Amino acid sequence: MRVLIFDNHQEASDAAANIVAEQLNAKPDSVLGLATGSSPVALYERLIEKHRSEGLDFSLVTTFNLDEYIGLSKSDPQSYHAFMHQHLFDYINIAEQNIYLPSGTSENYRAFCQWYEKQIVLAGGIDLQVLGIGTDGHIAFNEPGSSLGSRTRIKTLAEQTRKDNARYFDSVDDVPHYAITMGVGTILEARKILLLAKGKKKAAAIREAVEGPVTAMNTASALQLHPDATLLLDRKAAEELSLKDYFLEIQKKEPKAP
Ligand code: PGA
Repeated sequence: MRVLIFDNHQEASDAAANIVAEQLNAKPDSVLGLATGSSPVALYERLIEKHRSEGLDFSLVTTFNLDEYIGLSKSDPQSYHAFMHQHLFDYINIAEQNIYLPSGTSENYRAFCQWYEKQIVLAGGIDLQVLGIGTDGHIAFNEPGSSLGSRTRIKTLAEQTRKDNARYFDSVDDVPHYAITMGVGTILEARKILLLAKGKKKAAAIREAVEGPVTAMNTASALQLHPDATLLLDRKAAEELSLKDYFLEIQKKEPKAP
């Protein structure tokens, strides 16, 4: 696990955007795994800027999103379909047929989940997966207690997650109770992983993910098992790490390291 600590979230997002751009420049037909929520918004803004000013090309890119609320149609403004178009897809040259998101309105979720997993395999697997982290340590909607080998499936949202996400809805009662989400096992198969975390409210979840045991109680801790996972944290999200100074020292020395 590589832990990078930045003065603020904008710097973390800029660094993440540079890593995504390197990936796309090295492999123009990359498969990206994408996340929703507030954590990746500044990254997406920077990618749009790079598309406009540097010609960063998405024409051959395929994307798979992590999750979607059950019961929300694509056109629902609170859906993650709408979120992705509003924050990224409408502003880059991605082909509509290369965009995949889990469906929140399937007639047969079990079949849909299997189909979704198969599309990831047929696309060649995810080259680079972007993640946020919940205050309960979840990645995607893999709430505490999720199997670390889990695949795309329906999860019941934890009350904490529904409260955290209520800010996007009129009230907490409007937040769906279920979501369709890639599993921890699905995520761990991505070749490279970037996790963005900002603010003090993520500090405890980050401490447990980085310095705690690998446990289903904090599904981000499963990233300890991944060979190429980078956490991009602002200072507040890194505040509770006992190894914070060591991580900062590595970051400073890294360019010169043998
Ligand atoms: P946030 O959500 O980016 O809106 O903080 C992250 C998550 O719940 O995974």
